[in-house]
Amino acid sequence: MFDFSDTDSGISYESTEDEIEINTPTYSLSIMDPIEAAVQPENMLDKFVEVGGRRYFNDVTLKGFYYLPSDQKEVERTYARNHLDKIIWEGNYSAPVFDSLSLGANVLDVGCGAGAWIVNMALEYPTSVFVGIDIVPLFPEDYPPNMTFLRCNILNGLPFPDNTFDFVRQAFVIVCIDWQSWKEKVVKELIRVTKPGGYIEIMDMNIDREIINLGIVSGKIDNCLEEHFRKAGINRASGTDVIKTFNEFKDKVIVAPIEVRTYYLGKKAGRIGDALLKSVLGGYRAMKIIFIHIMRITEEEFEQMLIDFEKECNEITLRKTRYCAIIQKRLVVYDS
Ligand SMILES: C[S@@+](CC[C@H](N)C(=O)[O-])C[C@H]1O[C@@H](n2cnc3c(N)ncnc32)[C@H](O)[C@@H]1O
Repeated sequence: MFDFSDTDSGISYESTEDEIEINTPTYSLSIMDPIEAAVQPENMLDKFVEVGGRRYFNDVTLKGFYYLPSDQKEVERTYARNHLDKIIWEGNYSAPVFDSLSLGANVLDVGCGAGAWIVNMALEYPTSVFVGIDIVPLFPEDYPPNMTFLRCNILNGLPFPDNTFDFVRQAFVIVCIDWQSWKEKVVKELIRVTKPGGYIEIMDMNIDREIINLGIVSGKIDNCLEEHFRKAGINRASGTDVIKTFNEFKDKVIVAPIEVRTYYLGKKAGRIGDALLKSVLGGYRAMKIIFIHIMRITEEEFEQMLIDFEKECNEITLRKTRYCAIIQKRLVVYDS
């Protein structure tokens, strides 16, 4: 989360109580999960702020508003990005859960966003049950009948009993949670709700080594993001440190070696490189308020920076990385 209360960037804040309208793909009507009605947190007062033409979620429980937009454009960006992640990882997941999913598993997506991954998975594995949780209500209105969404803040704990899920997945959420909370709360909760023998999969950016072969413009962008994550208390070395954090619970989990995938950006890598570059540009646009605030630039200068970045990517061989960590909860859990 990012506190913009001290901003002097000149961007105006406009509060609005309007309900967010999301036109997501339409599926057969959902069956409401009873859990949803029972545990909906009462202190969740919806509030959206509009900044620079984008809508952001601003909950009373957050320090500032959530730094990625909560609007239709962002939904479309995450659905497209999820498709590219599927190409990078050659599938929707890396953990050995195919048999379990095919037979019928309980699956949790923590910080599911607009639901791109979980909706995809629910359609692919109709005998499994899927639950997506997120603090921001960006969920689609219609989704497959074997899934549901639930609003909650993981920092307050996950509203499920111990040993509920066969597969717990989290993607791009570590970069939203301060490192202290990750270590002290989130890891424990992920392990707690996973069934013995079940898997936790975490896919994210390894921010300190995210971009390889930086150029002048990409270097500036990287420095700005470093500043943002430092201020937000987010660990840039999250990829490798995730493993270390889970290793502190060796009596409860087995941690597989981390896997890193590298992909090239730009026309030199053909159509996929071009699509990945467009996706990265979309991500930077979604983070526009951060760039404008930290770099103290105008919107025009920001747009020019993206044009220069695109040009740079098509000239040099710039690469980005993603990592995936797979953790299995031990079948026998020893009390420490
Ligand atoms: C970068 S998005 C990734 C969304 C999705 N996993 C994906 O891959 O598209 C991070 C998500 O984590 C959610 N999030 C951040 N902090 C959270 C918290 N404390 N509790 C629950 N969700 C949180 C955000 O609302 C956002 O939807």
